[in-house]
Amino acid sequence: MPAIPSTPDPLARAQPRSIVLCVGPGGVGKTTTAATLALQAACRGQKVLVVTIDPSRRLGQALGFENAPAGTELAVDSPAITGTGGSLHALLLDGRVVFDRLVAAYAPSEETAAAIVKNPIYRATTENLGGALEYAAIAQLQLLHAEGRYDLIVLDTPPTANALDFLVAPERIQELVNNPATRLLTGGGRLGSRILGIGNGIVIKTLSTIGGGDFVRDLGEFLRDFSEVLEAYRNRAGDFQELLASPAAGVILTTSASPFSVREAVHFLGVLRGRGLRVDGVILNRVLPPFAPLPALELLRPPLARQLGDQADAALERIVAAYAGLRAEGEHSLAAVRVIHEAYADLPIWALPRQEPPPTALSDLHALGGQFVEMRT
Ligand SMILES: Nc1ncnc2c1ncn2[C@@H]1O[C@H](COP(=O)(O)OP(=O)(O)OP(=O)(O)O)[C@@H](O)[C@H]1O
Ligand SMILES: [Mg+2]
Repeated sequence: MPAIPSTPDPLARAQPRSIVLCVGPGGVGKTTTAATLALQAACRGQKVLVVTIDPSRRLGQALGFENAPAGTELAVDSPAITGTGGSLHALLLDGRVVFDRLVAAYAPSEETAAAIVKNPIYRATTENLGGALEYAAIAQLQLLHAEGRYDLIVLDTPPTANALDFLVAPERIQELVNNPATRLLTGGGRLGSRILGIGNGIVIKTLSTIGGGDFVRDLGEFLRDFSEVLEAYRNRAGDFQELLASPAAGVILTTSASPFSVREAVHFLGVLRGRGLRVDGVILNRVLPPFAPLPALELLRPPLARQLGDQADAALERIVAAYAGLRAEGEHSLAAVRVIHEAYADLPIWALPRQEPPPTALSDLHALGGQFVEMRT
């Protein structure tokens, strides 16, 4: 498999974007590659913000999150950026902070804003409801993009079991507040609740008499008020999908070379394109090189026997097994490139080598960013 001489990295090669989404299956290196791409772009003189989610503790430290208040954009100093005219900031996504901002800005009145934040269900929802973090990530992106303070925003995406959740979850939140059952609970929707006034519908009354009334009333009020906020926000900011499908936004999909991840990645690429998103490239992360066959065993046996005596045969067996594992992994990388190219011939694929130890310091990320290699079948 020839690796062609590499241009610096996937973003340098792609159309200029002001938003880049780093997506992919769980645990493949989305957070690491998002930070690496952001640092590289800053080194090319751009003003870059990387929005990361759940980085490893050491990467979080490298980006300066430790001891910083949630939701602050932190300047990241790296000698690699100095003198380039570029800058790098990092923001740790905090769903609660984003929702608080939305509530403050879009609740119909200060009283409603205060009622939402005071509602006991608010915290539980913004922290635990499936899809809330994904919704917050996109809303955060939309808010930052509208402010226009950065040339480029690189968004890491939440760790989900299924990469597609990232696209679907915000819609689920929207549906939750639009959903007829929710409307019934809140007394017939916004208009209905105004017209029907207090009491909020038969459902709540019934449930109140059989217990749990406070909870149901809290839930009803919360959903009614919160849906108003989300609706006002959506009317003002526009549809998520439109922004993501605009030429301002590109997607980089990271995957490992394991057949399981690659299958998921190929499926995900189809969905992304089906939704009109522009995929600028695939990063095959943590790859091992294709290893040559093991030298003839007879060559290894004498030196091993000299060193290990009668342990030599057992040691040889272990070496052969370990080497076979490495070769198989190297083969996976080649197979991954073939599989992705068979499905999407036009898509650039970049390999990033596995680093030992894993890259966490800024200098590690900078070194990793210099090792992108474009792969061809
Ligand atoms: N090229 C690499 N070489 C070695 N280790 C790596 C490399 N890239 C990432 N890692 C390590 O792999 C682990 C997972 O990486 P990362 O957290 O970036 O993945 P993720 O896709 O963001 O995961 P999640 O889906 O949980 O958010 C981390 O320990 C990271 O340091
Ligand atoms: Mg991550």
